[in-house]
Amino acid sequence: MAAADLRTQVAIIGAGPAGMLLSHLLAADGVESIVLETRSQSYVASRIRAGILEQSTVDLLRECGLGERLHREGDEHRGIYLQWPDERHHLDFVDLIGRSVWVYGQTEVQKDLIDARNAAGQEIHYDVTDTSLHDIETNSPAVTFTDVDGRPRRVDADIVVGCDGSFGPSRERVPPHVRRDWNRVYPYSWFGVLADIAPSTDELIYAWHGDGFALHSMRSATVSRFYLQVPNGTAPDDWSDDRIWEALATRLGHGQNGWELTTGPITDKSVLPMRSFVQTPMRYGRLFLAGDAAHIVPPTGAKGLNLAVADVALLAPALVDLVRKDDHRLANGYSDTALRRVWRCTHFSWWMTAMLHRSEDPFDEQLQLSQLRWVTSSAAGAAGLAENYAGLPIGLTRSSSAG
Ligand code: APR
Ligand code: PHB
Repeated sequence: MAAADLRTQVAIIGAGPAGMLLSHLLAADGVESIVLETRSQSYVASRIRAGILEQSTVDLLRECGLGERLHREGDEHRGIYLQWPDERHHLDFVDLIGRSVWVYGQTEVQKDLIDARNAAGQEIHYDVTDTSLHDIETNSPAVTFTDVDGRPRRVDADIVVGCDGSFGPSRERVPPHVRRDWNRVYPYSWFGVLADIAPSTDELIYAWHGDGFALHSMRSATVSRFYLQVPNGTAPDDWSDDRIWEALATRLGHGQNGWELTTGPITDKSVLPMRSFVQTPMRYGRLFLAGDAAHIVPPTGAKGLNLAVADVALLAPALVDLVRKDDHRLANGYSDTALRRVWRCTHFSWWMTAMLHRSEDPFDEQLQLSQLRWVTSSAAGAAGLAENYAGLPIGLTRSSSAG
């Protein structure tokens, strides 16, 4: 193992939204961290992500000084449209539950985080390889890695946090006899399309259709984002631009009740697999997991980043108490507390997915339509969806040492 050449309080593996926000919140409470990232800064900053922020995510980002550009460029949405052939219904979350959502690309959140951490002089090692965790069962864990110049390095820390997404090495370090993996795979994927065209709608449209689900989302006044349900195994090149626009027009109801879909140049095509995954517990010894390292949700409802933010909002004050005061109370509760929200969002994402995606079974189809009618006509049904979509409050629990 490389000789210890770096020392910090919290070693964070992964510079995605979870890792970067964690380093930001820890620094605000005077706790040092070092972030290790296997990709380059430009890759991490430009990865395409979903586009919806829950009210509580927006509140938290503002509270910790990351709300300036979000406030200027983000767009507050009162709700969403839910539709099926010949019917489109608006659910107004503000009327229903007094909360809204924000359209602000999660890629932009990531850029804001990188800018803020760079401005603060955060130590981040990009382009690292061979990340390996050591001694996480002890009070002096370490992480070894090979740096961008090919040198073996070692960070000694009080705590290691795995924010390294679903493919990172951290979650595997929870031993099999402690760990449980909960999995659900779906028999379809999302075909994602980015287009340089003004959105044809003021708020997002989630469309049930006999050909398959479609979603009209957006990134800005001039950029639209669309998704189509496609069979697993579909490749981005399998669909020509004409075929994409035709499918979107059909599934989103072009020409129905005077609504029109405007088409434009497509700038990106990608295929997203759908999966629900939870690993429990989210802590083992001095290793804590946050974000996609511990859980994956299907994209319906755009919960991925919001859930990562909620984990980190709980974890940061817990780690502050642990490293500054040797007070373990919040840290000991972290996994159970975080998992309550994780399972709520896991259920909601699964439920939205099951309600909206084409199934081979005509019985299921009738259940889906009945559910859609109920959710759009009953105040109780609509409020349930709104509460989950706009998200439960998180708030930034101040650690006791922060005063
Ligand atoms: N060493 C260092 N870093 C690693 C390693 C490794 N061995 N393996 C993976 N990483 C990095 C990845 O390159 C990635 O940048 O960890 C980071 C994990 O980031 P995300 O996958 O974005 O996960 P997370 O931060 O939990 O983001 C949560 O944001 O946009 C949403 O949908 C996205 O649900 C996701 C959410
Ligand atoms: C997106 O804009 O990328 C998006 C929006 C809503 C979703 C999923 C993705 O449910």
